[in-house]
Amino acid sequence: MVTVRAPATSANLGSGFDVFGVALEHPADVVQVEKAPETTIDVTGAGSQYIPEDPEKNTVGAVARALEAPAHISIDKGIRPSSGLGSSAASAAGAAVALNELYDRGYSPKELVPIAAKGEAVVSGTPHADNVAPAILGGFTIATDQGFTQIEADISLVVCLPDLVVSTRKARSVLPSQAPLDDVVDTVGRATTLTAGMCRSDPVLVGNGLDDRIVTPVRAELIDGYDSVRNAALEAGAHGVTISGAGPGILGVCPPEDQRSVANAMIDAFDDNGVMARAFQTGIGNGAELCSW
Ligand code: HSE
Repeated sequence: MVTVRAPATSANLGSGFDVFGVALEHPADVVQVEKAPETTIDVTGAGSQYIPEDPEKNTVGAVARALEAPAHISIDKGIRPSSGLGSSAASAAGAAVALNELYDRGYSPKELVPIAAKGEAVVSGTPHADNVAPAILGGFTIATDQGFTQIEADISLVVCLPDLVVSTRKARSVLPSQAPLDDVVDTVGRATTLTAGMCRSDPVLVGNGLDDRIVTPVRAELIDGYDSVRNAALEAGAHGVTISGAGPGILGVCPPEDQRSVANAMIDAFDDNGVMARAFQTGIGNGAELCSW
């Protein structure tokens, strides 16, 4: 039996739609695998009642098929589905790392990323790797068709999770198919600034790079209270705020000493809009890790 802890992740980071992602120190899923003649799945924990246990419909079933590694797979969800925190990606990443170990497949972490991304396609319809890359590699990751780049960075974060559900499919359905050139130019500037900020562990540069004019504005309309939560976080000391992944979670970058006030400001602003919320004071963490063998 193999057990793996796989972290929550925050994808996009505003200007890096479908490309950027960070592993979060917490929360996390725990995935346990045991060899079996055919794949079976059981799911417990946060939001487990909404997650299918049918291997054809669950993200980890696709991973087991891709690795030709049938197993009984138990998932203890620490990450609620449809939160914007890479819930399905954490399970897929955890299963990929665990089954690779269980069956001694010998894939490197970077080789496991596209395998875990096949699990993402089951949930979102497209096999983007911006959540599974940091869930496996840890740190800040850049996922492109040319491969995966990982950068270690030390940045304090707050993630505020409202009691709302936004599915990735819905959040992708509202996206524009084209963007004006000046918005693209602005996005390139933001994305490169953010990357430089990650290389220097500079929260001001990273916060500046979180803004974008193409994806976030249309998705913000799916999150009750988004603008007031963003403004409240900025007033409380955040260097930048954006939607985490497809939402409805909201990500803030801030100095470590302001994490608590930013978290409280975001919760209070959601409350003012009639939405219950909780917040995680976290940072950029490690990728999926073996817990036992
Ligand atoms: N890049 C993805 C999106 C992340 O924003 O749709 C969520 O799967």
